[in-house]
Amino acid sequence: MLTGKNILLGISGGIAAYKTPHLVRLLKKAGANVRVLATESALKFVSELSLSTVSQMPVLDDIFTADADGERTMHISLGEWADALVVAPATANTLARFSSGLCDNMLSLSFVTLRPGKPVLLVPAMDGYMYDSPSVQRNLSVLKAQGCRVLEPESGPLASGQCGLGRMPEPETIFEALSSIFAARESAALEGRTVVVTAGPTREKIDGVRFLSNYSSGKMGFAIAAAAARRGATVRLVSGPVTLPTPPGVERIDVESAAEMLEAARPLFDGCDLFIGAAAVADYRPEAPVEGKIKKNEAAMVIRLVRNPDILAEFSTGRKPGQLAVGFALETAGGLEYARKKLTDKQLDLVAFNIYDGSRSGFEVDTNVLTLLGRDGSITELPLLSKEEAAGRLLDAIEKLPPR
Ligand code: CTP
Repeated sequence: MLTGKNILLGISGGIAAYKTPHLVRLLKKAGANVRVLATESALKFVSELSLSTVSQMPVLDDIFTADADGERTMHISLGEWADALVVAPATANTLARFSSGLCDNMLSLSFVTLRPGKPVLLVPAMDGYMYDSPSVQRNLSVLKAQGCRVLEPESGPLASGQCGLGRMPEPETIFEALSSIFAARESAALEGRTVVVTAGPTREKIDGVRFLSNYSSGKMGFAIAAAAARRGATVRLVSGPVTLPTPPGVERIDVESAAEMLEAARPLFDGCDLFIGAAAVADYRPEAPVEGKIKKNEAAMVIRLVRNPDILAEFSTGRKPGQLAVGFALETAGGLEYARKKLTDKQLDLVAFNIYDGSRSGFEVDTNVLTLLGRDGSITELPLLSKEEAAGRLLDAIEKLPPR
């Protein structure tokens, strides 16, 4: 759930801050990218060196830190970069800063620059009397009303020597809470949308018993269909011949040839919000397939091939405003320019450049290495991922595209 997610971890000055390097470890182990924002008092409870070592990034505590381009606007770029902000521990002071919109340290500033709709998880930890005070409770209700999630403190021994409510939940609990926020968002992100996916190879008949095809397994397209259904979309999957089970909640139409795939997909064009061409459609078909079986009477034979219709291009060039078109470009290494050309030639919103290396990426295998090129010029290089994870990241990128 957290693979590839950009997490801002804000730490404010409470004793529980000493547990945060472990939280960073859990997030990193799950494949998240973590940037730590610590307040001055947080660094009295936990060392900057521990946090920068486990997060593999410098800790940010200075508002005027420069970003990679040397601009002194790191707080703005962080707000754009982050997929979520977690604040653990969130002290009474930090909650007060957040609820009033103060921007006097890197953490409070990043809270304000975080892009709308991105989840914020607050993990208050303080003495029980402080926690119950009307001021803290008022700030928490303001923040909850703004959409922030609050992971309630637990009861147990406190730093004051007393026993009661106020302890920060263990890093594992915070990690689980964040994962379930992403799971819930994922389940609803495509609610009300209709997604059409093409998948698998096509078979182009030579005669009654032979065909031309390719090694596509359909795994990538099926993973995309499954991920879109999990996000609440109505999903129609037009599939060439594969041996995969239909993902839960997906409506599947089986076809053989490119012509059949087009015939099945065309009636779905009008009602779809997003068309994803993940099928490895044969570019050519035998011009005149033979009825019955060709006998080997000749020493050599020539089969004349003619071009197949381009299903994705037909959709994208004839579509209505608001509909999105996404394609794949399978190329051997160095084919990024071909992928970019496909984006423009087929008038796509996004193309997934799929590096074919024959072992970890491409047909038949369970993993993939994709580079996503958006029509807005964005380039997202994904690491080697399972096809399920790659499908999720592709949908994340599609959801971020500006409306058409
Ligand atoms: N596609 C399609 N219908 C076709 C051919 C391709 O819908 N007849 C879609 C595929 O599903 C994929 C993208 O278009 O999303 C791939 O484009 P294509 O031009 O087929 O790429 P390649 O054949 O891999 O590249 P090229 O022929 O340029 O070497």
